[in-house]
Amino acid sequence: MIIVFMGPPGAGKGTQAQILQENLRIPKLSTGDMLRAAIAAGSEVGKVAEELMKNGNLVPDEVVVGIIKERISQQDCANGFILDGFPRTINQAQALDKMLKDNNLIVDKVICLELDAEIIVARQAGRRVAPKSGCVYHLEHNPPKVAGKCDVSGEELMQRDDDKADVVRHRLGIYDNTVKPILEYYDEQGLLNKVAGDQTVDQVKQQIMSIIEQK
Ligand code: AP5
Repeated sequence: MIIVFMGPPGAGKGTQAQILQENLRIPKLSTGDMLRAAIAAGSEVGKVAEELMKNGNLVPDEVVVGIIKERISQQDCANGFILDGFPRTINQAQALDKMLKDNNLIVDKVICLELDAEIIVARQAGRRVAPKSGCVYHLEHNPPKVAGKCDVSGEELMQRDDDKADVVRHRLGIYDNTVKPILEYYDEQGLLNKVAGDQTVDQVKQQIMSIIEQK
């Protein structure tokens, strides 16, 4: 099964993709996490991405399409995967379809989490992330079992550079300017499912599971 998560920054894509990864036993592929890993490793991709991401701008299509193409060819994606944060432009959506078609695959479900801007800015301020495991926490709504440590890897949790309120608002503006054609593209194919992101993590999860279980 190939699932695409869409939604504005902070809507809960990473949180829900992580839960789904554990339930379906297929990997979550987060372009944001992959780009942050590339920056930490000092690779060529990381050098291209660093300044753009810090300021909340999109990384060029050819860079993220290349990363995804390489990642989905790996063995652990053979039974499907969950895309978190990709595609983010109509070019990326079309490139994804092309690379899937070349392997006789299609997107099965698109889940778009919806959330108001003010809730997003407040949520991002409390977000803490574990760079190695990719787990996402919130100081109030989804705290780790031990303060400051990842439940899975035990690593120190950190705050992302792009979670400052002004950068979050800039990222929201970019999302608003790019999302419409992608939603239309998936809606026309009957793949789009919208879920309200202003519910508890567990309520959102239940709705997503019932969408996944529909034929
Ligand atoms: P990326 O890392 O993908 O960030 P994003 O899409 O902006 O989304 P976020 O990770 O901020 O939020 P989320 O929806 O995953 O929410 P989360 O679950 O963490 O991208 C970062 C940057 O990389 C981009 O700006 C761009 O520069 C670049 N990039 C990445 N992909 C790209 C692409 N395809 N093309 C070009 N550039 C690309 O939740 C947020 C917080 O809320 C957490 O603390 C969480 O615990 C909490 N929370 C979650 N659900 C709930 C709930 N139901 N109730 C209360 N709190 C909740």
